[in-house]
Amino acid sequence: MRATLVEVEGEEAGTALYAMDWLRERVRWHLDPANCAGRVLVSLDAGGAITGHAIVREEKGDAGRAFGLFSTVFVDPPLRRAGIASRLLDAGEAWFRERRLAEAATWTSSTNAKLVALLVGRGYGITAHHVHEVTGTVMVRLARPLA
Ligand SMILES: CC(C)(COP(=O)(O)OP(=O)(O)OC[C@H]1O[C@@H](n2cnc3c(N)ncnc32)[C@H](O)[C@@H]1OP(=O)(O)O)[C@@H](O)C(=O)NCCC(=O)NCCS
Repeated sequence: MRATLVEVEGEEAGTALYAMDWLRERVRWHLDPANCAGRVLVSLDAGGAITGHAIVREEKGDAGRAFGLFSTVFVDPPLRRAGIASRLLDAGEAWFRERRLAEAATWTSSTNAKLVALLVGRGYGITAHHVHEVTGTVMVRLARPLA
């Protein structure tokens, strides 16, 4: 999560946004059913080392309608363009479908060309914008219906 923030927001802003203890607690928060319905998905190499992750959870939209949220997705930089994120997204979308969620969505910086290209290629479209209250970054919501 820290590496994603640094990559998307730059070293200074990405480091300052959240303390490491808060980030660790945020991962654990997703694993406690008392907090949310969520999963931490990881991809492993042949030796069992983590090569990427996605954090997913069930969220409620403005009208109270439940949808599946990709809270974050990250792939170890030397291992990119090998389909790891695509498989993590496949697994997250399958989990959303199991929960009968009608939509998959995520928020990212409008400048995150890699993630936008990945998601648009999978049928996601931009459904909303907002300006991040701390960084001033223009954020976009990308979403797609789940059959
Ligand atoms: C975005 C990210 C998760 C993609 O991971 P990945 O494992 O390299 O993605 P995949 O190999 O599954 O890519 C599938 C497709 O997405 C698109 N894509 C992925 N990376 C791209 C890039 N750098 N430039 C353009 N298109 C890209 C391509 O269409 C690609 O297919 P192709 O390789 O056959 O052309 C990875 O770059 C990353 O971890 N970025 C930093 C973290 C981040 O920004 N996370 C989201 C924060 S909300």
